[in-house]
Formats: sequence, structure tokens, C-alpha cells
Amino acid sequence: MDKIDLLFTEEEVRARIKEVAKEISDKYKDENVVLIGILKGAVYFLTALSMDMATPNEITFMAASSYGAGTHSSGNVIVKIDIDREIAGEHVIIVEDIIDTGNTLKLLIEMLKHRKPASIETAVLLDKPSRRIADIEADYAGYKIPDKFVVGWGLDYNQKYRDLPYIGVIKE
Ligand code: IMP
Ligand code: MG
Repeated sequence: MDKIDLLFTEEEVRARIKEVAKEISDKYKDENVVLIGILKGAVYFLTALSMDMATPNEITFMAASSYGAGTHSSGNVIVKIDIDREIAGEHVIIVEDIIDTGNTLKLLIEMLKHRKPASIETAVLLDKPSRRIADIEADYAGYKIPDKFVVGWGLDYNQKYRDLPYIGVIKE
């Protein structure tokens, strides 16, 4: 069993997600939004966000992994599971657990733009700004955190701890 230090309690995370949901709802008002969750990490944040949003929203998922992206972020994204619908003309928000180097989100946006959504934004639960390589910022972020390895709320360590309802730091 790894030692995990508490970073944000369940109550804090749920309250913060409500604030992010309000920020998104205030922007989109009554327009329909399509949330694209990136499997598997985004599942926990996405469902909370979807229910907390006043804006009508639909959900879909994709699984992707990025590789080979260096300092000029000329990497590639492999789509392992694609979304099950068209997004042309839709207001899309890509939902991720965390933005770290930013390579994954940057490549996904570039790829999804070709499908002609009306707009495309990103929402992340956590943001590690000190680790950024790609030239991208999330449009909505729950918390900015230092460069620590975190788990819970969908974030895993070797597939474990996604189910923790709080966010913690694995102790080295
Ligand atoms: P990046 O922004 O392309 O570097 O990739 C972000 C992905 O890295 C996330 O979706 C997570 O799967 C993973 N990741 C980055 N930092 C952490 C962490 O602290 N805990 C767990 N997964 C992380
Ligand atoms: Mg991930």
C-alpha cells in the first residue's frame, strides 16, 4: 500500500467542480454542449461536471495516447477508441483529468478541429503548469498544482487509486 498525502478533500473537489460548471454554464447559457471525456481518467470529473452544469450537455468518450512529442510538440496522437458520434456544428469541450505537458490535449484539439465543431474548448480538473511543453492552456481548470504525482478522482498510479474520492499525492 502506497502512502498517500491528502491534497484536496472530496468536499473541496465537489465544490470546486460546481464552480467550474457554473463558469462553463455562464458562458454557454442555453446552448447545447458536447463533452468529450478522455478515457479513463476523465470519467469521474466528467460525470460530476455534466450533472453540475446548467447548460444542456451530451457526453461521449475517446481513448487516446500521445507519444513522441518533444519540445516542439510535433508528436502524434493514437486514437484507441474514437467518439461514437459526429461533432460538426457542435460546441465541444474536451474533458481531461489533468493537463501536464499539454501534448495530449494539443494534439486532440488539432485532430478534432478537422471534424468542424462550432467551437472547441478544454476543461481539466488539475493543471501542472510547471510541466508544460506544448503551447496550450486549459480554458477551464479546477486547481493548479505543483509538480507532484497525484491520484484520485480518476487519476491513477499503475491503474490503481482512480476511485479515491479525494485527491492525494503519492509519497516517494
Ligand atoms: P500530457 O498533458 O499530455 O502530459 O498528459 C496528461 C496525462 O498524463 C493525463 O491524462 C494523465 O493520464 C497523465 N498524468 C500526468 N500527471 C499525472 C499525475 O500526477 N497522476 C496521474 N496521471 C498523470
Ligand atoms: Mg490520461
